[in-house]
Amino acid sequence: MAEAPVVVILAAGLGTRMKSRKAKVLHRAGGRTLVEHVVTTVLNLTTRDRVFAVIGHQAAEVRRSLEPFGIGFIEQAEQRGTGHALQVGREALAHLGGPLVVLYGDCPLISAATLRRLIDTQTASGAAATVITTALEDPTGYGRVVRDAHGNVAAIVEQKAAAPEQLAIREINSGIYCFRPDLLWKHIGEITPDNPAHEYYLTDIVGIFHRHGYSVRPMEIPDPAEVLGINNRVELAAVDRLVRERTARRLMLEGVTIEKPETVTIDAQVRIGTDTVVEPFAQILGETVIGEDCRIGAGAIVTDSQLGDGVEVGPYTIIGTSRVAAGARIGPFARLRLDNDVAAGAQVGNFVELKKTRLGAGAKALHLAYLGDAIIGESVNIGAGTITCNYDGRKKHPTVIGDGAFVGSNSTLVAPLEIGAGAYTAAGSVITDPVPPDALGLGRARQVNKEGWARRRREGE
Ligand code: UD1
Ligand code: CA
Repeated sequence: MAEAPVVVILAAGLGTRMKSRKAKVLHRAGGRTLVEHVVTTVLNLTTRDRVFAVIGHQAAEVRRSLEPFGIGFIEQAEQRGTGHALQVGREALAHLGGPLVVLYGDCPLISAATLRRLIDTQTASGAAATVITTALEDPTGYGRVVRDAHGNVAAIVEQKAAAPEQLAIREINSGIYCFRPDLLWKHIGEITPDNPAHEYYLTDIVGIFHRHGYSVRPMEIPDPAEVLGINNRVELAAVDRLVRERTARRLMLEGVTIEKPETVTIDAQVRIGTDTVVEPFAQILGETVIGEDCRIGAGAIVTDSQLGDGVEVGPYTIIGTSRVAAGARIGPFARLRLDNDVAAGAQVGNFVELKKTRLGAGAKALHLAYLGDAIIGESVNIGAGTITCNYDGRKKHPTVIGDGAFVGSNSTLVAPLEIGAGAYTAAGSVITDPVPPDALGLGRARQVNKEGWARRRREGE
């Protein structure tokens, strides 16, 4: 059986044209970093012990973002060009057989199917290498493909080094190659920084092979979208849009209704069950999982959260790192800030904020409340304007409210505090002491009426 391919992803560059403090490959499109897209795709082709990333600029950050994939790393301490990036990998890679795929970390849309076709084409051809090419309306910035009389690639000429007649060539180098590894490692040392930018161009290997009498085959693909490289933020935005379009399309074909799909922002990893409806301008981000028959309202933002079946999220509601069980209703204009558990059938209404709070099954907090560090039982009613005073300026304290309790409107609950099951607090109370089960907690001044006071004032007495 043929040996499995080896894949090298070049991700050591700074990405000057991004004008960023952050390495280019760590910028995100469709919710994933550029290099994560590439790694995810190539792991469909081979095992992770045969995938390597060349890292250099912000190596620690890039390594951290890719470590979960279990791939190998090669450090390119100084970034002296794409050819140099492979030269430094020679020692770690040259003993591995199998077709050698090289691609760049800033080219996130390439599909596994196209890469598989590249490997098959190269393996069948007997050429020294196969390179994916495509014709662009505007080839500015890309390396141009110079063909010989047999249709082979005779050279790739970089934009900065190209003569005027070469700049007119519209067929470009995608930067995605499959090499015969023995020939690559034999000749990689012949690349020199003999160009205006003084860089070691990997693309020079094509001309080197040609001079040695080896052929390099082009694999021209009709749709340039797959090989778009990202060099600046305009291109980043274009690719972000394409990735999100793909995600929305996949979800719609899986049975999710997305209204005005061009307006929503859904990350690539998000999962959504059938017959859920996503309204315009919703954002569903990170590792969010949403069940079936849910409704995600217009302008809602849901991040890294799990929503059960039949959950309704009203418009302009923000949910972060929280779990919402089946049939719960959140919003409109609610905020589950962080680490909340909302049990089945519970309701959170407008201008209610929850933080690290558990809201029991069927409990309700429908208007204008802050519930932080609270454990709230089943079927509890939280009146409008209730505030947990969970922070004393130094420490956070818990509030525990038993099943079936009724917290009167505008209650101020000074934590740490316990309100027993079935208890009431009177509206407008400041509750500082525990309320026993089934008791009424009253914590406010008694009302005084001054008879005739208003009339006397009007009459100027
Ligand atoms: C490169 C190709 C060009 C091709 C284009 C496709 C070369 C010389 N040119 O140009 O022919 O049309 O991609 O998108 O290869 N990198 C390193 N170490 C380095 C330099 C770069 O790892 O020393 C990495 C970068 O992180 C990046 C990738 O290699 O992910 C490509 O580098 P970049 O500078 O973007 O190359 P282009 O100018 O786009
Ligand atoms: Ca590039």
